Amino acid sequence: MRKNLIAGNWKMNMGPRETEAFFEGLGEQGLSEPKKTDCLICPPFVSLMSATARKVATPWVNVGSQNVHFENNGAYTGEISTEMLKEVGCTYVILGHSERREYFGETDEIINTKTKKVLADGLIPVTCVGEVLDERKADKHFDVVETQVRGSFAGLSDDEMKKTVIAYEPVWAIGTGETASPEQAQEMHEHIRNVLKSMFSDDLANAVQVLYGGSMNPGNAADLLAKPDVDGGLVGGASLKPDSFAELIRISEQS
Ligand code: 13P
Repeated sequence: MRKNLIAGNWKMNMGPRETEAFFEGLGEQGLSEPKKTDCLICPPFVSLMSATARKVATPWVNVGSQNVHFENNGAYTGEISTEMLKEVGCTYVILGHSERREYFGETDEIINTKTKKVLADGLIPVTCVGEVLDERKADKHFDVVETQVRGSFAGLSDDEMKKTVIAYEPVWAIGTGETASPEQAQEMHEHIRNVLKSMFSDDLANAVQVLYGGSMNPGNAADLLAKPDVDGGLVGGASLKPDSFAELIRISEQS
């Protein structure tokens, strides 16, 4: 049985002080350690240490970054390495978010290189795929996502793929308040699993966590998480407040 993963992507929000306040607030939500839900918060780089230091009341919340470089060190101004992330207690890394694809020119090839690097260094990648609105309108969304999955995970061993988390984030649903319907999410998640079956094996495709992202919130999460191939959420706006993040965890535990 796959566990769910409720993951918060804070994007360029929440400095160190706000991060400390968030974890203090989360500790006051009366949560006990979830049984069937992995939890993750991905703050900006400068807030990672605040997160790992202040999650004492909720030690089961994992901390991850939103990006990483694929070299170990050297002359890469402005970049951060996997070893640096591990040193501050990160265990996950979001890769290939649509905002990085759109604004920072990340291609499937770059995302593939980063995914392999992250896995080689013992971190868990949350690798993102998803179509833009024009692609969905032109009925190309299944092909677009298949190309992204094949490109992002090319050359991974079964063992590596098993440790990888995929997030399906339809770009038209990100930050727009418009969510994919549970049926739209389910059919794409099933499609992703079918692509994984053809690249790897049935067993492997059935083992990988596939998250949905795009305006998930406590009001729509139960219906999305009820779908058989939806294994959690990559959540932006609704992960910024302790009460709504806690509520998403509770909903996941009941799904
Ligand atoms: P929102 O939940 O704010 O739509 O953001 C989704 C997202 O991009 C998470 O990575």
